Amino acid sequence: MKLFYNPASPFVRKVLVTAIECQVEAQINKEPLALTPVSPSDALNADNPLGKIPALVLDNGSTLFDSRVICEYLNQLGGGTLFPNDDSRWQALRRQSIADGMCDAGVLVRYETFVRPEERQWDHWINNQKDKFRRATALLESEVSGFGDTIDIGTLSVAIALDYIDFRYSDESWRNQCPALAAWHQSISTRPSLAQTMPKDLA
Ligand code: BEZ
Repeated sequence: MKLFYNPASPFVRKVLVTAIECQVEAQINKEPLALTPVSPSDALNADNPLGKIPALVLDNGSTLFDSRVICEYLNQLGGGTLFPNDDSRWQALRRQSIADGMCDAGVLVRYETFVRPEERQWDHWINNQKDKFRRATALLESEVSGFGDTIDIGTLSVAIALDYIDFRYSDESWRNQCPALAAWHQSISTRPSLAQTMPKDLA
């Protein structure tokens, strides 16, 4: 399988973490891409018309996207337990949705501040995107006591979203407002799948 990939993307990281957790990482060849919405890749567009990463090209030639679909596929391929089949499934998927929304907002701000010319940037829009992940961390602070030791697509996604905020917006002070979430994050961050995939810029 071929994974279109950038080590800074939190959505790619979710796929890599899932692959490690489900022990299918060795089956994946990583194809690095420096990609922004205004610098598309013809190779990626040929496999994913949306031009987005992650995209996973299967050995039969078909391509899976987005990260949610790829993660569920890898979980099934490896016989993993990241997508529960009992009632806890909805809690896991809801946490994944909160985390993905935080990453969506974080990535949009990244594009606005890094890709768009400075004179065209819109602070009001940027602040409204940042408010999304600020409200989300406040919600997670109120819910983190229910996380326990759960390792599933929901809790892993939350850890990944918090790491992306730290990576791109290190001046965000979510730990001050969310001490319980910070303690949980510190604890889960020692998990090898997370520790081995910390976000970084493409070399
Ligand atoms: C980033 O550099 O933050 C980034 C790169 C690719 C996809 C998403 C985010």
